[in-house]
Amino acid sequence: MITACVADFREAARRRLPRFLFDYIDGGSYGEVTLRRNSTDLADIALRQRVLRDMSSLDLTTELFGQKQALPIALAPVGLSGMYARRGECQAVRAAEAAGIPFTLSTVGVCPLGEVAEAASKPFWFQLYMIRDRAFMENLLDQAEAAQCSALVFTVDMPVPGSRYRDYHSGLAGVSGLKGTAWRAGQAMLRPQWALDVGLMGRPHTLGNIAPVLKGKTGIEDFMAWMRANFDPSINWRDLEYIRQRWKGPLIIKGLLDPEDAREAAALGADGIIVSNHGGRQLDGVLSSARALPAIADAVGDKLTVLADGGVRSGLDVVRMLALGAKGVLLGRAWVYALAAGGQAGVEQVLRLIEAEMRVAMTLTGCRTIADIDKTILAGRA
Ligand code: GLV
Repeated sequence: MITACVADFREAARRRLPRFLFDYIDGGSYGEVTLRRNSTDLADIALRQRVLRDMSSLDLTTELFGQKQALPIALAPVGLSGMYARRGECQAVRAAEAAGIPFTLSTVGVCPLGEVAEAASKPFWFQLYMIRDRAFMENLLDQAEAAQCSALVFTVDMPVPGSRYRDYHSGLAGVSGLKGTAWRAGQAMLRPQWALDVGLMGRPHTLGNIAPVLKGKTGIEDFMAWMRANFDPSINWRDLEYIRQRWKGPLIIKGLLDPEDAREAAALGADGIIVSNHGGRQLDGVLSSARALPAIADAVGDKLTVLADGGVRSGLDVVRMLALGAKGVLLGRAWVYALAAGGQAGVEQVLRLIEAEMRVAMTLTGCRTIADIDKTILAGRA
């Protein structure tokens, strides 16, 4: 099918993936209100069109955490990505490198740190949760250091996993043993291309970073159960102080929506934060990222690097997030849809489309550089 935009990649992914995988990536929590608002609030942001300003030369490069990158974009950490395409994290890290942007490996990725480091030729970012087993966390931090990860993205908005109805309806949650396996296998059989390419050839399907502690329990529901049992609801700022001391490189705290929390992150000495509601997958009804971002950028934008994710489905949306105060934007579903649809080439293509869309938005708002994109391009705020 023709893939001209993120929505096309989403449809291609829907056609290619077994239902439980499409719903896991596509869905949010509860009634999915925040998931929808992430996109609709962003789409409601109107920009000031400017014309006749000789926009023949644009510069989309930027610097984040001391590294120059081709676009103000990073690939967000997404669990289970290796189920969306064969050894998906390895394909995605190569696509990100080709586009000149960072890839973030999730703690709950399929490919472990070592495998992704082998596939990569440049440093990538690593995402970590607060996990009950601190020795295990330490070990992951050691591995991330050994892999020379250029930033640690520490996710703080998942002390408990959100209530995601779709996962129950699709057989990913709430069903165990043979029944769950048979349910999901039935869905996989309806997607023969995926079944061969990923289901068969993409093994092992273990979550590589945590498989060593699961001791032989390798079914997908074992991982889901592990996630529910091992995320640590006692997480607090003191734990973050420990992480700050322990991790010498750039530390980015992911999952903030409140200016007070952002100030705490700045006081802690975080290098960056990600304004995020976890793609509408955690507490439904919280603010969309687009609505939360301006107050946070005002509160701490001069103290640390403010990034944002949530609802970004085009290069125009990237420009909107930058205008709202972000210095960089993370793409989540956008790249995973593309990965499912076309592997590494799919991710490269979606990033090219997003870059082209950014160029149009910059040209028609009179922004020659990324630094030019600020709130003065928001309609009604000049
Ligand atoms: C994990 O981070 C998830 O949102 O499922």
